[in-house]
Amino acid sequence: MPERKPLVAANWKMNKTVAETESYLGALSGHASQLGGVEVVVCPPSTALAGACAVAAGSGIQICAQNVHESESGAFTGEVSIAMLAELGVAGAIVGHSERRRLFGETDEALARKVPALLDAGMLAILCCGESEAERDSGETEAVLRRQLEADLEQVAVGDLGRVVIAYEPIWAIGTGRTATPEQAQEACAFIRELVAGIAADAAEALRVLYGGSVKRDNAAELFALRDVDGGLVGGASLDPDDFLAICRAA
Ligand code: PGA
Repeated sequence: MPERKPLVAANWKMNKTVAETESYLGALSGHASQLGGVEVVVCPPSTALAGACAVAAGSGIQICAQNVHESESGAFTGEVSIAMLAELGVAGAIVGHSERRRLFGETDEALARKVPALLDAGMLAILCCGESEAERDSGETEAVLRRQLEADLEQVAVGDLGRVVIAYEPIWAIGTGRTATPEQAQEACAFIRELVAGIAADAAEALRVLYGGSVKRDNAAELFALRDVDGGLVGGASLDPDDFLAICRAA
């Protein structure tokens, strides 16, 4: 069975200026050498990506974007391409976050192009999925995850599937302080791995599945110890470098 290196990613959302980003990463880089066993990813807003890459260079901390467009160039006002990110030294992008799906109309059709385009560029694709509270209450969690992942991974080459990072983020746990129970997190992440195993067993073993949704320094260790959880995608608690460091250490 391949060893999966845990990955912990900070999703800052629309928070932090360039100056705040540089001071945060300056502080975090000082501790990066203690985090050798964990892949640490920080996702600042797009204005701060260049500065973040410069400060994090050589530290082992990877900088990723919070979104990317699937096309190489063109009339897409407000969007940024994969090549534009790569030029800055950005390592990859979060795609399919529920806030982007819900508030900005990111579709499965776009995601089906974004994920393979990132992988083709040799970049990290952190694909988010997850059910709403109403969907969980009506017993549709697995159907929702299946629908999202089958659509979003459809055009990924089988040989690349193991490189995708999938973040299971139940929408009702995002920014609410209501974390999924360890049982709920394990069940959903195991289901995600089984779905991928249905396409390629070796990819399923290599694939990192993260849990996201109100991960904090006091619940991270319990969540990251779960069999099918290979780290986390952290929003609110990642804004403080000490909290984020503690969460990385828990992996
Ligand atoms: P949260 O956000 O940790 O603040 O719940 C997680 C996310 O949206 O990725």
